Amino acid sequence: MDKTGKKIQKRDNPNDVFITPDTLVEEHFNLVKPYLKYCDIVLDPCCHETQKYYKRFNKHLDWCYGSNEATEQEEWCDGLVDWCEITKGRDFFEYKGFDEGTHDRDTGEEDIAPVNAIVGNPPYSMIDAFLDKSIELEPRVISYLIGFANITTKRLEKMEKAGYKCVEFHLTKVFKWYGMSLLIVWVKDTDAKSVVGYDRKVHR
Ligand SMILES: C[S@@+](CC[C@H](N)C(=O)[O-])C[C@H]1O[C@@H](n2cnc3c(N)ncnc32)[C@H](O)[C@@H]1O
Repeated sequence: MDKTGKKIQKRDNPNDVFITPDTLVEEHFNLVKPYLKYCDIVLDPCCHETQKYYKRFNKHLDWCYGSNEATEQEEWCDGLVDWCEITKGRDFFEYKGFDEGTHDRDTGEEDIAPVNAIVGNPPYSMIDAFLDKSIELEPRVISYLIGFANITTKRLEKMEKAGYKCVEFHLTKVFKWYGMSLLIVWVKDTDAKSVVGYDRKVHR
């Protein structure tokens, strides 16, 4: 095993909690922004107590919705950006949609709106589960920050079969993280051409 591999084995961060640097959150936000539409609801599925993605998107959408200035939000506030974080009691795998805070007059059930975009930095050991749950929620945009080595042809095929085309594939480097990092954006039912080619052959 090389030096980097040994360091990773001994890292003090065994629980998949890697906090995204602010500059990379900004880069990710800028990559996704062209695919957002007015009135979209965005979900950060695993925001951590830092809520970096949540706050960045909230700042943008607050402006879209007419306050005319980008305002910092209170901590753990709710808005048209929603969040999940397991350590705060909101499990992404239990998530059904954005709770509008109102109830159906007839049934008394909570009004739940579907989310339009899911964006974040998922736990790297749960990528398949996060992709499956994201597909189940049927947003128009799914975008994740993952390790470059974590993008496999099987995962690309899974997304394509679910109707998602890869429209952005951006490689970058985080100083303390192993290998290159990938910002990937998938859009559902678009005429755009996928920016990634692949096949599932195994050459021998
Ligand atoms: C790689 S960290 C990313 C943290 C933060 N989003 C960021 O970009 O800096 C993954 C986060 O996912 C959270 N997490 C793990 N399982 C989860 C689940 N089932 N639902 C919601 N959050 C989860 C962890 O507690 C952790 O905060």
